[in-house]
Amino acid sequence: MTARLLDGKRLAEQIREEIRQQVERFYQTTGQRPGLAAVLVGDNPASQIYVRNKRRACEQVGMVSWLHHLPGETTEAQLLALVRQLNDDPVVHGILVQLPLPRHIREEKILEAVAPNKDIDGFGPENLGRLAAGRPRFVPCTPLGVQVLLRRHDIAIAGRHVVILGRSTIVGKPLALLLLHKGPDADATVTVCHSRTQNLAAMTRQADILVAAMGQPRFVRADMIKPGAVIVDVGINRLPDGTLVGDVDHAAVAGIASAITPVPGGVGPMTVAMLLHNTLRAAQLQAGLLSAPE
Ligand code: GUN
Repeated sequence: MTARLLDGKRLAEQIREEIRQQVERFYQTTGQRPGLAAVLVGDNPASQIYVRNKRRACEQVGMVSWLHHLPGETTEAQLLALVRQLNDDPVVHGILVQLPLPRHIREEKILEAVAPNKDIDGFGPENLGRLAAGRPRFVPCTPLGVQVLLRRHDIAIAGRHVVILGRSTIVGKPLALLLLHKGPDADATVTVCHSRTQNLAAMTRQADILVAAMGQPRFVRADMIKPGAVIVDVGINRLPDGTLVGDVDHAAVAGIASAITPVPGGVGPMTVAMLLHNTLRAAQLQAGLLSAPE
């Protein structure tokens, strides 16, 4: 068997075109363009590339974006002051604080300060709590991107065993909550594995859908998967020679899986498309065009 490639790049392009049309309608209705404020602290090269790509994607669909690039020595109080200023600015509909932050800044204090109706990353306690309660407002972009990628490739989730490798607050934990919901594109049986899980391969071999999100290059090998499983590779790892690889040994696993995401061109572009989706929703909510989730 050669696995079907789940092409996130092409799907993300389609979704971006759909969003571009919705942004135009929003502009016709309100005279405003959805606005995203991106906050970057310090000079982490990967973060700079991610933020640049996100801002470019915003502008391509007709949104406005602003970059607040602060020096690495910025204090927590200064960063909090900026977040509060953005919370109060009516042209800013979404706020993205790129992670990781420098070590002297407590990430949770900053994420807690972002206004919940502008928290388009969905990392603040209110949005994560709503997700846990089954009443989500903004779902973190990577988990949402994984769900949409599966849905738009007609891969059924209900009743299937999804095994997630990695328990981060950005991917593993919110994805588990999302797929556990009652309802369409969910209703999965979910297992979350992590660095202390015993007999990992015995777990992963039970997966109908395996999501690798633990940040270990080519960790998932052929003997860890069930024949015919669907493999979603969230990892982006740069090897010393410069090549980008996922958390899955793609070449080995593609012969056994029924479907697999490439790296790059799989989950990564979906994450950016979902950021646009969340920013548009934030603007629609703030303009009173969507009934707010109660
Ligand atoms: N760092 C790694 N992934 C993300 C993300 O999705 N959003 C933000 N803000 N920072 C990140």
